[in-house]
Formats: sequence, structure tokens, C-alpha cells
Amino acid sequence: MMDKVKFGIVGCGRIAQRHAEHISKNGELSAVCDIDLDKATRLALPYGAKVYQNIDDLLASEKDLDLISICSPNGLHAEHSIKSLDAGFHVLCEKPMAINVHDCGEMLKAAERNNRRLFAIRQNRFNPPVAAVKEAIDKGILGKIYSVQLSCFWNRNFDYYHNSWKGTLELDGGTLYTQFSHFVDLLYWMVGDVRKAYALMGNFAHEGVIEFEDTGVVALEFYNGALGTINYTVNSFGKNMEGSLTIFAEKGTVKIGGQYLNELEYQNIEDFEFKDLPQGNTANNYGKYQGSMSNHDKIYENLIDVLKNGSSISTSSFEGLKTVEIIDKIYQSAKLNH
Ligand SMILES: NC(=O)c1ccc[n+]([C@@H]2O[C@H](COP(=O)([O-])OP(=O)(O)OC[C@H]3O[C@@H](n4cnc5c(N)ncnc54)[C@H](O)[C@@H]3O)[C@@H](O)[C@H]2O)c1
Repeated sequence: MMDKVKFGIVGCGRIAQRHAEHISKNGELSAVCDIDLDKATRLALPYGAKVYQNIDDLLASEKDLDLISICSPNGLHAEHSIKSLDAGFHVLCEKPMAINVHDCGEMLKAAERNNRRLFAIRQNRFNPPVAAVKEAIDKGILGKIYSVQLSCFWNRNFDYYHNSWKGTLELDGGTLYTQFSHFVDLLYWMVGDVRKAYALMGNFAHEGVIEFEDTGVVALEFYNGALGTINYTVNSFGKNMEGSLTIFAEKGTVKIGGQYLNELEYQNIEDFEFKDLPQGNTANNYGKYQGSMSNHDKIYENLIDVLKNGSSISTSSFEGLKTVEIIDKIYQSAKLNH
């Protein structure tokens, strides 16, 4: 098939830097675009990529690309992905896939009608303890899952939201979309689809700073009968504290913890023990705050394997839609309970 995969990037902010690094290791960064020309130019320079100020110009001029990586604000993911797919390119979309289920559906339809691949990023799946526990669940080592507890205790202060699309309903969508969609993805991946969500939310420390909740408590019922809770906040004082998932199952209890679901904190499993888990990647460090584990290398390795060798996608767009659907259910419930 293709020799060197040629990439474009739409949105040249923080996470785009990471994409550019991995693109240069796996192929060629040919073109970038940002409404802020300075940011686009800065990203393009080390890689000799062409610079555009809007996506339509990029798509009209760059016929030679293979794939576009969408790194724009959440609320633009659908528009930018659909335009790129309709122009005939494969797409890798940052998380969350979109901020409503309808848009995710339109993205899937665009991929189908153009016979292109749509990859949706959810890199926490590659954290060593997460991958190990998922494998154990799939092999039946834990038995039936009874209940789960997801804790997301992070800190996002005024500076983080100041002068940014982050914190707006239209482009961000909500704390579960921007901060914690990775974590919700793991509930779907490890436990299953959610039948019912019951949620309460509040904005305690970010009044006038963000247009939605900074804290939520959620009760979940899964289709397989398991029960779950999510307790999340961006008010952990001064710094991120914890991102953890505890699973209570028929043959064992296990807790994946650390700040980013990167450590196996507790295990007590019948006739089984997780041993010698490999050291994972470090978290994305943005100077004043930290994000999730930086596993974009794994995403790009898989992407190249899919495009060149016809392997299967490790983080599919259908599952991207499911994460958005679960978050959507949670927000709908919070509105009803308000
Ligand atoms: N997977 C992860 O761990 C991870 C980490 C951080 C961010 N993200 C996601 O990546 C996306 C970008 O986040 P970020 O932190 O890099 O934000 P950012 O604000 O640093 O970058 C976004 C960029 O998009 C540009 N932009 C805005 N409108 C545009 C348009 N119409 N066309 C082209 N460019 C446009 C902005 O000028 C900005 O440079 C978000 O969806 C976010 O949720 C994912």
C-alpha cells in the first residue's frame, strides 16, 4: 500500500505538539491549520509542513494527504472530521469524539459513505494496569462484575480556563467530556454499556469561570446488571489527586489507581496475581497542570498498522460514540434532577 503516510493536523495547540512528534516518527507531517496563524506556523516549522489558516483551504489544496488528525476544540471535532472524511481522508479524532451523540452518528456515517477509517483517541486503555485488568476480565479471571467505583479527583484552576474555549458549553461541553471522558470510556470497555444513569452536579469553585459543573456524583446501572458510581471533581485542592477505578467481582477485587489510572493499587483475586506490570508512559505535562497518560505513541503505532497492514483499530469510533452516549445520559439525568 502507501509508503510514507502523509498527515495533516487541524488545531495547533497543546496536544497537537504531541501528535506532530509521533507523526514525524511514523510518517510525514505535510500540512497544518489553525485559525491562529502564529500557532500553525510554530507547529509547522520544525517539520517543514505547509501552513493554512482554515480547514477548507487545507482540504482544497492538499490532495496528497492520507490522514488528518483533529486536535481542535471538542465542539468542532464533528465538523472538522466530517469535512476531512468527505474530502477523502482518513481521520484520527482527539477525545471526546464529539459533544453529542447525534454528531458522533454523523461522523460514523461520513466514514462509511467515504469508505475511510475514523480513529477515536482514548489512550488510557494502554496504561499497563488497565490493559492487564481488561485482559483478566475477558479471560473470566475476575468472574462476574458486581459493582465498580470510578473516582476522578483533579484540579483545574482559573488560569486553566482563562481565555480559552475550555469551560464553555459550546466548545468544551462539560467536565466529563474534557477531563474525564477517558475514564468513562474505561467503564464501557471493561464493564459494559450503561442502561441508566442518575446524576447530581454542582459548580462550587468555578462560578463565573465555567458554564457547567465542576463536580458530580453519578449512580449507574449497566446492561449486564452491574452497578457503578462515579465521583468526580476538578476541585481537588491545589493539584490532581487521584484517578482510580475499583472493581468488585465474583472472584476478586481490584483497584487501578494513581492520578491517572496508572498504578495497580490493590488486588485480591482467587488463585491469581498481577505481577511485574511494565512501567507505563508518563502523564502529559502542560506546565501548570497535568493531563492523562501520554500514550499517543500506541495510538499512532496502531493507526499505521491499520492503514498499512489492514489490522483492526484498537480504539474504534463506535466505542467513541458509546462514551459520548454515556456522558450524554449522565448530563440528561443531571438536568432532570436539577
Ligand atoms: N488525549 C488527550 O490526552 C488530550 C489531552 C489534551 C487535549 N486533548 C483534546 O485535544 C483537543 C485540543 O485540546 P488542546 O488542549 O490542545 O487545546 P488548545 O486550545 O491548546 O488547542 C486547540 C487549537 O485549536 C485551534 N482552533 C480553534 N478553532 C479552530 C478552527 N476552526 N480551525 C482550526 N483550528 C482551530 C485553536 O486556535 C488552538 O490553537 C481537545 O478536544 C481536547 O479535549 C486530548
